[in-house]
Amino acid sequence: MEIQLWREILTPYDLAVKELIVKFEHLIYEHRSQGLYSPIEQVTGRVKTIASILDKAQKKKIPVNEIEERFVDIAGVRIICQFVEDIPKVVDIIRRRTDMEVVKERDYINHMKDSGYRSYHVIVNYEVQTLHGNKKIKVEIQIRTLAMNFWSTIEHSLQYKYKKNIPDHIREKLTNAANAIISLDNEMSSVRSEIMDAQNSFQIHTKLVSDILNNLQNLYGVANEREVLKIQDEFYRIYELNDIDQLKRFCRELDIIAEGYRVQSFTTEEM
Ligand code: GTP
Ligand code: MG
Repeated sequence: MEIQLWREILTPYDLAVKELIVKFEHLIYEHRSQGLYSPIEQVTGRVKTIASILDKAQKKKIPVNEIEERFVDIAGVRIICQFVEDIPKVVDIIRRRTDMEVVKERDYINHMKDSGYRSYHVIVNYEVQTLHGNKKIKVEIQIRTLAMNFWSTIEHSLQYKYKKNIPDHIREKLTNAANAIISLDNEMSSVRSEIMDAQNSFQIHTKLVSDILNNLQNLYGVANEREVLKIQDEFYRIYELNDIDQLKRFCRELDIIAEGYRVQSFTTEEM
């Protein structure tokens, strides 16, 4: 088949990869902008090169006219997570979506490959709209942690270098490294709750400061200036203490003061 024709065949795959990257990256944005932890850390994607498609078809003895039907990884998206616990959450997000239909799942995390490879694969049907109408194509989504990604990237380049015949002594190192990756992910999982706690208190802190500043700003309009400046100095003093409980107490007190002014202005308006 002509190269130009291949380029045309691959156009919808290119669109699918681009769209899915935008969608998954937007999920990261949505989580973060709502102050939520995002189970997705990074998203990448690629369309398989023509050379690599033909090479694989030859090895697997797949006739050219059956490639599109039988290949599931012409379009590939990779979702990288921080923790192993994030992976089922991402799978769940994918299962619940209506713009993609899961057709196959492969769990190489609980069932590590002999090579040491670990990752969760989801094959989805995804529809794109092109100049020539709608086309439903398969996309392989690989979900893995940063650590798993580190291992598979290195192993992949070694496979490439040794044309899949990696020498035994290097294989052994890779197996050791794969076990080290399991321990690393476990260690990271054990500090996961601390990281979440840190994010949570950061959120509480941000909310408190914003409430205090709002109240202070409103007080400028109603209270006498000397009093507001005194409150503001007190705020700076407490802010520097870096103590969330003190900040909470100050926020409550300020609320009471502000409420007092609201009541006062309400009664004045009544009269
Ligand atoms: P391929 O013909 O390689 O696509 O394998 P497959 O059709 O039997 O599917 P499989 O689920 O085994 O692999 C799908 C994809 O996962 C591959 O294209 C790789 O991107 C990745 N993968 C699978 N096994 C390994 C491995 O041992 N090492 C690395 N680095 N990646 C792997
Ligand atoms: Mg594959």
